[in-house]
Amino acid sequence: MSALVLNNIGKDFGGVHAVADLHMEVPQGRITGLIGPNGAGKTTVVNMISGMLSVTSGAIKFGTHDITHVGAHDAAALGISRTYQNIRLLSESTVTENVMGGFHRHEKASILASLLGLPSSRRETAKVRRQALEMIDRFEMSAFHDHPAGDLSYGHQRRVEMMRALAMAPELLLLDEPVAGMNEVESGELGTIFSGLAKGGMAVLLIEHNMRFVFGLCDFVYVLDSGRLIASGTPDEVIKNPAVITAYLGS
Ligand SMILES: Nc1ncnc2c1ncn2[C@@H]1O[C@H](COP(=O)(O)OP(=O)(O)OP(=O)(O)O)[C@@H](O)[C@H]1O
Ligand SMILES: [Mg+2]
Repeated sequence: MSALVLNNIGKDFGGVHAVADLHMEVPQGRITGLIGPNGAGKTTVVNMISGMLSVTSGAIKFGTHDITHVGAHDAAALGISRTYQNIRLLSESTVTENVMGGFHRHEKASILASLLGLPSSRRETAKVRRQALEMIDRFEMSAFHDHPAGDLSYGHQRRVEMMRALAMAPELLLLDEPVAGMNEVESGELGTIFSGLAKGGMAVLLIEHNMRFVFGLCDFVYVLDSGRLIASGTPDEVIKNPAVITAYLGS
């Protein structure tokens, strides 16, 4: 079943059609690829799905919900989580604090309680900290848990972003170039993590320029160029498509 369906969505910025008439489906339990040259509209698609950008035309369905005009807060509450192409961490805060920030979808009552200094909130905070530390351990970053996020290597910062996005146990995970700037070993490790998440039932949308990485993980890939879908299919089908070759290499 498709967790997410984009029905002919479009986004205009002034006169620019950043995305036009895009149909795309992201099923549960799989990693779906979204590729295309710079400026193709990939991040714009993620911004619309995650409710950070309004949609100009078309509709977005998530499970049984129409989320076309849902804002970022409500999209997150429905179980849609994302990472950012340009890493967005609290660089002065520790790794643990950054990851704890991701848990707060379930913890609204406790934030209020904590502002009021109630004992139940201290218990909640301790519980969230413990969950954050468990996740940090699973991502093999325990040695860094009390380091300021801004001091970490680029690859490690990307891992922290991933953990923060996963902390809310999303049903749909949107990854905007999650392994950019990583070496092959680091990206391979993250690829294994992504496969595990999909096996566990999560719907994953992966944007990435590294084709080998995308084709190794995805069983279905969409290709955008100048805001339009120029191809879709299995990696084998897409790689042989003349329109894709032209988009990447020029005619
Ligand atoms: N907020 C905005 N205002 C105006 N134009 C925008 C805005 N965001 C994106 N665009 C334009 O929309 C088009 C698609 O941009 P987008 O960032 O979605 O591409 P992308 O496929 O993610 O590219 P990249 O691979 O470089 O990350 C580009 O022409 C871009 O300049
Ligand atoms: Mg982008």
